[in-house]
Amino acid sequence: MTKRIAVLASGRGSNFQAVIDAITAREIPATCVALITDNPKAYAIGRAEAAGIPVKVVDYASFPAREAYEQALLAAMRECHADLFVLAGYMRIVGPEIVRAFPGKMVNIHPALLPSFQGLHAQRQAWLYGVKVSGCTVHFVDESLDGGPIILQRVVPVLDDDDEDVLAERILEQEHIAFPEAIRLFCEDKLEIVGRNVRIRK
Ligand code: GRF
Repeated sequence: MTKRIAVLASGRGSNFQAVIDAITAREIPATCVALITDNPKAYAIGRAEAAGIPVKVVDYASFPAREAYEQALLAAMRECHADLFVLAGYMRIVGPEIVRAFPGKMVNIHPALLPSFQGLHAQRQAWLYGVKVSGCTVHFVDESLDGGPIILQRVVPVLDDDDEDVLAERILEQEHIAFPEAIRLFCEDKLEIVGRNVRIRK
Protein backbone atom coordinates (compact mmCIF):
# COMPACT_ATOMS: atom_id res chain seq x y z
CA MET A 1 0.00 0.00 0.00
CA THR A 2 1.17 3.52 -0.71
CA LYS A 3 2.66 5.14 2.38
CA ARG A 4 2.16 8.69 3.51
CA ILE A 5 5.42 10.50 4.17
CA ALA A 6 5.99 13.98 5.59
CA VAL A 7 9.29 15.80 5.28
CA LEU A 8 10.86 18.19 7.80
CA ALA A 9 13.45 20.56 6.34
CA SER A 10 14.99 23.84 7.44
CA GLY A 11 16.91 25.06 4.42
CA ARG A 12 18.10 24.23 0.93
CA GLY A 13 16.15 21.00 0.63
CA SER A 14 18.26 19.17 -1.94
CA ASN A 15 17.59 15.89 -0.15
CA PHE A 16 13.89 16.74 -0.10
CA GLN A 17 14.13 17.27 -3.86
CA ALA A 18 15.79 13.86 -4.30
CA VAL A 19 12.87 12.30 -2.41
CA ILE A 20 10.30 14.21 -4.49
CA ASP A 21 12.04 13.05 -7.69
CA ALA A 22 12.12 9.42 -6.56
CA ILE A 23 8.40 9.53 -5.72
CA THR A 24 7.61 11.13 -9.08
CA ALA A 25 9.65 8.43 -10.83
CA ARG A 26 7.63 5.83 -8.86
CA GLU A 27 10.77 4.48 -7.26
CA ILE A 28 9.27 5.08 -3.83
CA PRO A 29 5.70 3.83 -3.29
CA ALA A 30 4.61 6.86 -1.30
CA THR A 31 2.79 10.15 -1.36
CA CYS A 32 4.48 13.16 0.17
CA VAL A 33 1.66 14.70 2.21
CA ALA A 34 3.49 17.70 3.66
CA LEU A 35 6.65 19.71 4.03
CA ILE A 36 6.98 21.00 7.57
CA THR A 37 9.55 23.71 8.13
CA ASP A 38 10.71 25.76 11.10
CA ASN A 39 12.06 28.41 8.72
CA PRO A 40 9.69 30.59 6.69
CA LYS A 41 12.59 31.47 4.35
CA ALA A 42 13.60 27.87 3.61
CA TYR A 43 14.41 27.26 -0.06
CA ALA A 44 12.68 23.90 0.40
CA ILE A 45 9.30 25.71 0.47
CA GLY A 46 9.56 26.60 -3.22
CA ARG A 47 10.44 23.00 -4.02
CA ALA A 48 7.29 21.81 -2.23
CA GLU A 49 5.13 24.37 -4.01
CA ALA A 50 6.55 23.38 -7.39
CA ALA A 51 5.67 19.76 -6.64
CA GLY A 52 2.20 20.58 -5.30
CA ILE A 53 3.07 19.46 -1.77
CA PRO A 54 1.29 21.29 1.08
CA VAL A 55 3.59 23.38 3.31
CA LYS A 56 3.22 23.83 7.05
CA VAL A 57 5.42 26.56 8.49
CA VAL A 58 5.99 26.25 12.23
CA ASP A 59 8.18 29.31 12.61
CA TYR A 60 10.60 28.70 15.47
CA ALA A 61 11.17 32.43 15.94
CA SER A 62 7.48 33.09 16.58
CA PHE A 63 7.40 31.02 19.78
CA PRO A 64 8.36 32.33 23.23
CA ALA A 65 10.17 29.15 24.21
CA ARG A 66 11.35 25.86 22.82
CA GLU A 67 8.59 23.91 24.60
CA ALA A 68 5.84 25.91 22.88
CA TYR A 69 7.52 25.40 19.52
CA GLU A 70 7.78 21.67 20.09
CA GLN A 71 4.09 21.45 20.99
CA ALA A 72 3.14 23.25 17.77
CA LEU A 73 5.49 21.06 15.77
CA LEU A 74 4.02 17.94 17.34
CA ALA A 75 0.50 19.13 16.48
CA ALA A 76 1.54 19.83 12.87
CA MET A 77 3.11 16.39 12.62
CA ARG A 78 0.03 14.63 14.03
CA GLU A 79 -2.17 16.40 11.46
CA CYS A 80 -0.17 14.69 8.69
CA HIS A 81 -1.22 11.14 9.66
CA ALA A 82 2.08 10.11 8.15
CA ASP A 83 3.55 6.61 8.14
CA LEU A 84 7.03 8.11 8.03
CA PHE A 85 8.62 11.44 8.93
CA VAL A 86 11.73 12.26 6.94
CA LEU A 87 14.23 14.69 8.47
CA ALA A 88 15.90 16.16 5.39
CA GLY A 89 18.19 18.86 6.71
CA TYR A 90 15.98 19.66 9.68
CA MET A 91 18.48 21.65 11.67
CA ARG A 92 17.05 21.26 15.18
CA ILE A 93 17.17 18.48 17.68
CA VAL A 94 13.83 16.69 17.78
CA GLY A 95 12.63 16.70 21.39
CA PRO A 96 11.96 13.47 23.27
CA GLU A 97 8.19 13.91 23.31
CA ILE A 98 8.10 13.99 19.51
CA VAL A 99 10.47 11.05 19.19
CA ARG A 100 8.25 9.03 21.55
CA ALA A 101 5.13 9.99 19.60
CA PHE A 102 6.43 8.35 16.41
CA PRO A 103 8.60 5.38 17.39
CA GLY A 104 10.29 3.74 14.41
CA LYS A 105 8.61 6.24 12.12
CA MET A 106 11.27 8.90 11.76
CA VAL A 107 14.46 8.82 9.68
CA ASN A 108 17.34 11.25 9.34
CA ILE A 109 20.31 11.67 7.03
CA HIS A 110 23.68 12.62 8.45
CA PRO A 111 26.66 13.67 6.32
CA ALA A 112 29.25 11.37 7.93
CA LEU A 113 29.75 7.72 8.73
CA LEU A 114 28.12 7.49 12.14
CA PRO A 115 29.00 7.07 14.93
CA SER A 116 31.89 9.29 13.83
CA PHE A 117 31.35 13.03 13.62
CA GLN A 118 27.95 13.46 15.17
CA GLY A 119 26.30 16.86 15.42
CA LEU A 120 26.77 19.92 13.28
CA HIS A 121 29.33 20.43 10.48
CA ALA A 122 30.08 16.73 10.19
CA GLN A 123 31.87 17.19 6.85
CA ARG A 124 34.16 19.82 8.39
CA GLN A 125 34.79 17.62 11.42
CA ALA A 126 35.79 14.71 9.17
CA TRP A 127 38.00 16.85 6.96
CA LEU A 128 39.76 18.47 9.93
CA TYR A 129 40.29 15.09 11.56
CA GLY A 130 42.04 13.84 8.43
CA VAL A 131 40.05 10.68 7.80
CA LYS A 132 40.61 8.98 4.43
CA VAL A 133 36.99 7.98 3.93
CA SER A 134 33.75 9.59 5.00
CA GLY A 135 30.21 9.36 3.69
CA CYS A 136 26.63 9.53 4.80
CA THR A 137 24.32 7.62 7.09
CA VAL A 138 20.55 7.16 7.03
CA HIS A 139 19.24 6.15 10.43
CA PHE A 140 16.11 5.90 12.50
CA VAL A 141 15.71 8.72 14.99
CA ASP A 142 15.74 7.91 18.67
CA GLU A 143 16.29 10.11 21.71
CA SER A 144 20.06 10.23 21.26
CA LEU A 145 21.87 12.71 19.02
CA ASP A 146 22.47 11.04 15.64
CA GLY A 147 22.49 7.71 17.45
CA GLY A 148 19.50 5.70 16.24
CA PRO A 149 19.69 2.36 14.40
CA ILE A 150 21.50 2.65 11.05
CA ILE A 151 19.57 1.76 7.89
CA LEU A 152 22.31 2.28 5.35
CA GLN A 153 25.57 4.10 4.73
CA ARG A 154 27.50 5.15 1.64
CA VAL A 155 31.23 5.76 1.63
CA VAL A 156 33.20 8.44 -0.22
CA PRO A 157 36.98 8.93 -0.36
CA VAL A 158 38.60 12.01 1.12
CA LEU A 159 41.20 13.19 -1.40
CA ASP A 160 44.39 15.13 -0.77
CA ASP A 161 43.25 18.27 -2.53
CA ASP A 162 39.79 18.36 -0.96
CA ASP A 163 38.61 21.22 1.10
CA GLU A 164 35.57 21.06 3.30
CA ASP A 165 33.24 22.23 0.52
CA VAL A 166 34.49 19.77 -2.09
CA LEU A 167 34.12 16.94 0.40
CA ALA A 168 30.62 18.09 1.37
CA GLU A 169 29.62 18.14 -2.30
CA ARG A 170 30.94 14.61 -2.86
CA ILE A 171 29.05 13.39 0.20
CA LEU A 172 25.86 15.18 -0.90
CA GLU A 173 25.80 13.26 -4.20
CA GLN A 174 25.73 10.05 -2.21
CA GLU A 175 23.08 11.41 0.18
CA HIS A 176 20.81 11.89 -2.82
CA ILE A 177 21.15 8.18 -3.59
CA ALA A 178 21.10 6.82 -0.04
CA PHE A 179 18.09 8.70 1.30
CA PRO A 180 15.57 7.76 -1.41
CA GLU A 181 16.86 4.18 -1.23
CA ALA A 182 16.31 3.95 2.54
CA ILE A 183 12.87 5.54 2.25
CA ARG A 184 11.95 3.12 -0.50
CA LEU A 185 12.94 0.18 1.72
CA PHE A 186 10.82 1.58 4.55
CA CYS A 187 7.83 2.13 2.28
CA GLU A 188 8.14 -1.42 0.96
CA ASP A 189 8.01 -2.70 4.58
CA LYS A 190 11.47 -4.17 4.19
CA LEU A 191 13.06 -2.70 7.33
CA GLU A 192 12.98 -4.43 10.68
CA ILE A 193 14.58 -2.91 13.76
CA VAL A 194 16.16 -5.57 15.98
CA GLY A 195 17.84 -3.86 18.92
CA ARG A 196 20.48 -1.59 17.41
CA ASN A 197 20.40 -3.41 14.10
CA VAL A 198 18.22 -2.75 11.12
CA ARG A 199 17.58 -5.89 9.07
CA ILE A 200 16.74 -5.42 5.41
CA ARG A 201 14.35 -8.06 4.14
CA LYS A 202 14.85 -9.34 0.62
C1 GRF B 1 22.68 17.52 4.36
O1 GRF B 1 24.08 17.51 4.28
C2 GRF B 1 22.20 16.53 5.38
O2 GRF B 1 23.02 15.40 5.50
C3 GRF B 1 22.25 17.31 6.67
O3 GRF B 1 21.86 18.61 6.29
C4 GRF B 1 22.16 18.83 4.92
C5 GRF B 1 20.89 19.25 4.28
O4 GRF B 1 21.04 19.60 2.91
N1 GRF B 1 21.41 16.70 7.66
P1 GRF B 1 19.76 19.81 2.02
O5 GRF B 1 18.90 20.85 2.72
O6 GRF B 1 19.05 18.49 1.91
O7 GRF B 1 20.25 20.29 0.70
